[in-house]
Amino acid sequence: MPFVAIEGIDGSGKSTVISHLAGILPRVYATREPSGGPIGRLIKEWALRGGSSDPHVDALLFAADRIEHYRREVKPKLMEGFLVVTERYVESSIAYQGAAGVPIDFIKYINSLVPKPDLTVILDVDPQIAVERISRRGGAEKFEHAAFLRRVREIYLRRAAEEGHPVVDASRPPEAVAREVAEIIKTRLQIG
Ligand code: TYD
Repeated sequence: MPFVAIEGIDGSGKSTVISHLAGILPRVYATREPSGGPIGRLIKEWALRGGSSDPHVDALLFAADRIEHYRREVKPKLMEGFLVVTERYVESSIAYQGAAGVPIDFIKYINSLVPKPDLTVILDVDPQIAVERISRRGGAEKFEHAAFLRRVREIYLRRAAEEGHPVVDASRPPEAVAREVAEIIKTRLQIG
């Protein structure tokens, strides 16, 4: 079964959209990065709480978590016949750690042990709207500031153009965004 990554800046509505997708498409297995495994927990408890001050360390941790997440969870679920939808994957590292100053070739190299998804969809929203959504759900984390998110968004959009990733307008209600994403998945991957 296909493997799909949903990407976008913090506050673009990825989690809500993915939860709606599970109601629209058959046999969806939803997962996310940072993962629920030990490296993912280290990222959430330490790196994202200001523990890591070197973006290369972040890049290495996210890549290590991804390799572990892919082998432990994504690959087995694909083999069981699920359509695996991950919230964030390699493009998150390229956009966020790239925006923090890590060379993109380095990020690509340390992520070269995991396969590319069959499809990556970018949820695009103005960072100002995203930051308003984030503050409504209570407080900003390490990467959740408008100036930084503007750089992250630029990289996402540049990569989308280079790689042919579909970009969806995520300023609309999540149900509408999810319907469009589901159509893109069905058309591009010929499922459903
Ligand atoms: P997020 O999706 O916000 O998780 P949660 O909702 O559980 O807090 O991810 C946490 C942060 O990690 C987010 O600001 C983006 C950042 N991040 C990276 O910088 N690089 C990566 O490769 C990934 C997966 C996430």
